[in-house]
Amino acid sequence: MKAPVRVAVTGAAGQISYSLIFRIASGSMLGPDQPVILQLLEIPPAMGALQGVLMELNDCAFPLVAGVIATDDPNVAFKDIDFALLVGSRPRGPGMERSDLLNANGAIFTVQGKALSDNAKPNVRVLVVGNPANTNALICLKNAPKLNPRNVTAMMRLDHNRAMSQIAEKTGTHSTKVEKVVVWGNHSSTQYPDISYATADGKAVKSLVTDEWNKNEFIPTVQQRGAAIIKARGASSAASAASAAVDHMRNWALGSNGQWVSMGVYSKGNPYGVDQDLIFAFPITCENGEWKIVEGLEISDYSREMIKKTEAELQSERAAVADHIK
Ligand code: NAD
Ligand code: LMR
Repeated sequence: MKAPVRVAVTGAAGQISYSLIFRIASGSMLGPDQPVILQLLEIPPAMGALQGVLMELNDCAFPLVAGVIATDDPNVAFKDIDFALLVGSRPRGPGMERSDLLNANGAIFTVQGKALSDNAKPNVRVLVVGNPANTNALICLKNAPKLNPRNVTAMMRLDHNRAMSQIAEKTGTHSTKVEKVVVWGNHSSTQYPDISYATADGKAVKSLVTDEWNKNEFIPTVQQRGAAIIKARGASSAASAASAAVDHMRNWALGSNGQWVSMGVYSKGNPYGVDQDLIFAFPITCENGEWKIVEGLEISDYSREMIKKTEAELQSERAAVADHIK
């Protein structure tokens, strides 16, 4: 057994966390030989509900749980942590875009960025799940001077997994046989799910589907999946979001075995011509605890147009939160 690592989860009494915390505790995220100390953050009105989550966590008697802290103080929750999953924030309701949450949620990430910088291990790996995830991650890193900007990421893995599953269904294969899918840009309806390089059972997906399906079915379905789930469930995705968070962190920490994944990362150095100083999703591989953008891909005119659109949205979100990222 390894020495325990400290994992913070915010919004710990919320919907996503109700699935996420138990997946982390069972070893799905960091492996069956990695004990964890869970440091759970909530706001004061939700501390009662969090006590209930704690009781259930104890009742699971998970072998890998080496300790649990439940608190409403971010400085306590983030003390000496190795991993942070920032889930706590308001979800959107029907008819809203995720960017409508900027006002409600932006301030949370100013406070939590500072608390991470002051308390977490300097190489803490951070995943922002709370929406609008990319811009909240930017706010977080701008308020966390002691953190490496490379270590602050936003969740695009749910979009990536959605894209994989849509392709698998269309091509009559299993999602494990689908490779080299990319979702570029923002976790929003401007995201660009891109099949240019994707293969299914080793064959080019572009040769298996029509352009019509790609543009009029696949891309809109993936872009609008979050809204479709809100409409169907009356609440935003939770178990699939938790599963994507587990996938994102597991691949980052333990490697993606050469597979491409989509992660929202800091766009330092204008990768693929994307404006710097954004949290933007690119094709990524992970090895030895580090992510790396897949380089040298040819970008078609259509892809360039789609990437520019989602980049423009992130630029406007960044302008809207200028007060939080000074
Ligand atoms: P929820 O309302 O069920 O839970 C959110 C929890 O966060 C609540 O318990 C609330 O008390 C807590 N919270 C609020 N402010 C907090 C703060 N400052 N510190 C700590 N905790 C705080 O919502 P949910 O369904 O769990 O969703 C959480 C967020 O994740 C939403 O913003 C949602 O839109 C987002 N989300 C993102 C993705 C993604 O792919 N990036 C997917 C699904 C949901
Ligand atoms: C999702 O993609 O399911 C989440 O971001 C929730 C939402 O608001 O769509």
